[in-house]
Amino acid sequence: MRSLIVMGLIGLGGFAVISSCGSSEGKTTAAAVTPAPEEKYISIDTTLIPNDQFGASVRYGRELMLNTARYIGPDGSAGKYLGNKMNCTNCHQDAGTKAFSFNLMSSHDHYPQYRGREGKVLTLAERVNNCVMRPHNGKPLPLDSKEMVAFLSYFKWISTFVPKDKPFKGAKNLHLTFPDIAANPQHGQLLYQDNCARCHGANGEGQWNADKSTYVYPPLWGNSAYQPGSSMHRVIKQAEWLKNNMPYDKVAPGKPFLTDAEAMDIAAFVNNDLIHSRPNPKSFDYPHIVEKAIDYDHGPFADTFSVAQHKFGPYKPIIDYWKTKGLKAVY
Ligand code: HEC
Ligand code: HEC
Repeated sequence: MRSLIVMGLIGLGGFAVISSCGSSEGKTTAAAVTPAPEEKYISIDTTLIPNDQFGASVRYGRELMLNTARYIGPDGSAGKYLGNKMNCTNCHQDAGTKAFSFNLMSSHDHYPQYRGREGKVLTLAERVNNCVMRPHNGKPLPLDSKEMVAFLSYFKWISTFVPKDKPFKGAKNLHLTFPDIAANPQHGQLLYQDNCARCHGANGEGQWNADKSTYVYPPLWGNSAYQPGSSMHRVIKQAEWLKNNMPYDKVAPGKPFLTDAEAMDIAAFVNNDLIHSRPNPKSFDYPHIVEKAIDYDHGPFADTFSVAQHKFGPYKPIIDYWKTKGLKAVY
């Protein structure tokens, strides 16, 4: 615990340098005096949130990550934006700070950023709204709303705990070794029944909390779950996340329970649109198809592989094909 606090203070030191000069050189200077902890996981210490107006916004942002539906859900007290009662932390676990769980601790440093999906540079606020609209099936928060400013304040604050010069442990999800065969949704169904249904339900419906204001176990498909346009709907993306994070009670960061092939089969079953419906099944196309993620299941594609192969694999031939063209496959 002591080391975490020290790390936090170092992080805050880095933050002070950045905010005082606001340049990328400032970051480099801060990084030079901040040796990156490579082997340890990074944690935040919420007692270090400042007791001023910025701190109040950070605290509200953290609240919004954890109890999103309460504030901005379909019955939200601060406005009705989300189309479902899931919470950001359902996927970005521990309010975006858990290792290998779509970790958001360096997001504030990485935006504005070019996004192939939209074919343009997005701000972090616009990227937040993508998640409000797709996994949460909602309408965008006004960019200057108290809620959006709170999300951004929180992301800025958690970014002060990470090293600025290199990636940290758990910044990206665990990777998979792709099997030579396609992911098998039928096998995934059997695995789902054995490993997932006891919490997420036999029909992927999840489980409500006592007053039905949100979920104890969030839904995986159906009208209250994420849209097909969400990255969670991509088989590779979901399988990488499942590997570290599910079944919830059998994993710890860096200690998977499922094998890579099992995670892919389950993701193929959960995301099989022939048997599972989702809200708003329209496609969100990449304006430049060479930038399309290989496990995105809407054509047209900049290669000759079928929709089914893009969706379920095998992915190696696609990756190799792109390599021969001198291009890097995105996934
Ligand atoms: C159903 C799962 C899910 C939910 C719920 C969800 N997200 Fe996401 N989010 C994702 C995935 C998947 C990505 C893409 C991560 C990647 O490509 O590695 C993402 C990406 C992001 C990013 C970009 C991170 C980066 O550094 O590029 C931000 C910011 C973000 N989400 C914020 C939110 C917020 C805020 C909420 C709640 C309003 C939320 N997300 C809810 C799945 C989810
Ligand atoms: C012991 C209960 C439990 C089991 C078993 C379990 N989960 Fe979860 N799952 C959760 C909880 C709790 C969350 C939300 C995590 C959070 O908020 O921190 C979650 C979140 C998720 C999410 C992201 C949110 C969403 O609804 O889209 C997916 C996807 C998911 N689980 C898939 C699975 C799969 C697939 C399995 C089986 C391999 C599985 N889970 C097994 C409890 C469980």
